[in-house]
Amino acid sequence: MEFMKRPLAPESPIFSLFDGLEFMNFLVGDDMIADRDAKHALKCLRNLTMRDAGMKFRGFRITINHYIYPRRPAVRAAALTDVSVMGKVTCPWDPTIDTSMSLPTFTPSTTADDVAATFAEQIRGKNVLITGTSVNGIGFEAARVLAKYANLVIITGLRLSEETIKKEVPSANIRQLVLDLSSMAAVRKAAEEVNAYSEPLHVLIHNAAAPAGKKITLTVDGLERQMAVAQIGPFLLTKLLAPKLLAARSANYTPRVVMVSSKGHMRGSGVNLSTVAHPDPEKHTESDGYFQAKSANILFASELTKRAEGKINAYSLHPGLIHTNIEHNEGAKDILIIAGILTPEGLPNLNSPLKWKTLGQGAATTVAAAFDTRLDAKPGSYLVDSVEANDQIAPHSSDPERAAKLWTITEKIVGEKFTF
Ligand SMILES: NC(=O)c1ccc[n+]([C@@H]2O[C@H](COP(=O)([O-])OP(=O)(O)OC[C@H]3O[C@@H](n4cnc5c(N)ncnc54)[C@H](OP(=O)(O)O)[C@@H]3O)[C@@H](O)[C@H]2O)c1
Repeated sequence: MEFMKRPLAPESPIFSLFDGLEFMNFLVGDDMIADRDAKHALKCLRNLTMRDAGMKFRGFRITINHYIYPRRPAVRAAALTDVSVMGKVTCPWDPTIDTSMSLPTFTPSTTADDVAATFAEQIRGKNVLITGTSVNGIGFEAARVLAKYANLVIITGLRLSEETIKKEVPSANIRQLVLDLSSMAAVRKAAEEVNAYSEPLHVLIHNAAAPAGKKITLTVDGLERQMAVAQIGPFLLTKLLAPKLLAARSANYTPRVVMVSSKGHMRGSGVNLSTVAHPDPEKHTESDGYFQAKSANILFASELTKRAEGKINAYSLHPGLIHTNIEHNEGAKDILIIAGILTPEGLPNLNSPLKWKTLGQGAATTVAAAFDTRLDAKPGSYLVDSVEANDQIAPHSSDPERAAKLWTITEKIVGEKFTF
């Protein structure tokens, strides 16, 4: 059709595109709405621009995102001014179009802003919880970028991150949550608070981690701190929020859980299954706890994906090497200075063979794991530089038997069994 050939700028109104179309169906949630409603939906779309509607030209064709069309008249009226568009990209008149063809290939220099702009339509309308969002951290940067598009971003870092995000994104819908992952009682309290929110949860990002210390430290629950903060607390939180995640599920959308792991998981021999529940200070070296916890993150993402059987998809990732708060911790700093990653002054060693990333580049993989639609086909994957990199997982962290054993051990520790 002629209109399909007209190139339109993102600011162009989209309504004229529908001239000449005799009828049109919109996908609403999981249903196709009737023609009568479609006419009303067209009216709602009258003021939308190409960018608002998430429409893109693919060659001479157009794709349109699912239009969320409220069924109740009062809400529908409000939608005239506040239209939300989200969901998987489909083309009403040609659903066979492969819309992934024109997505960019991400590289180590891709930033979180790049990824979020690419998947802006997917992020719109979504509710995301991200842990460990202290200013100058990877989680903060991911939250800042996601807040530009998301319906709601729940953050758990107290260090002024809400104020800092709002300065840049005044319209951001941020909610702060007090969460201490080192205490199971505190995790339960936080989960109770989140479960009382009216909104479903589309994405749960486990970014928080305790910095590698010099000595093994035990938590109030008698667990090794690294494992508690980066793995056992997140396991319990995921279990308790699973109903909220499942409530976000539809025929076109699968909720996601993201584990921010590390390439450091390769160091050592992976999770010591015999000490997870009963940590033994004799069996720990100074940074061992951190590496074990990061290995556990990868095992958890693949096992969760397997057990959820398509109802929740989980991913793990290595963000890269980024100068954040974590390196300011004395224990972590000493380890990194000895490894030559930091200079003796504690600054990034730019001559180290490891390449440093900016904060924006460091948060890119987290945003990709949360929203890149191409990963729907790769559930359970480990990502590096915003793309799937399962070949970079150490054998001990991709062993399904170990993943299943860790799951059972962790269920016993938290005293909860997952149900999907
Ligand atoms: N930076 C890197 O080069 C690098 C490399 C590989 C992987 N990673 C991973 O990236 C993630 C983010 O780290 P980052 O480098 O951005 O460091 P970061 O800014 O220090 O982030 C860690 C976050 O975890 C929070 N946290 C610590 N203990 C907690 C607890 N008990 N309960 C709840 N939250 C807690 C911290 O809060 P407070 O600030 O309040 O302590 C902070 O917000 C971590 O999982 C880390 O392992 C980082």
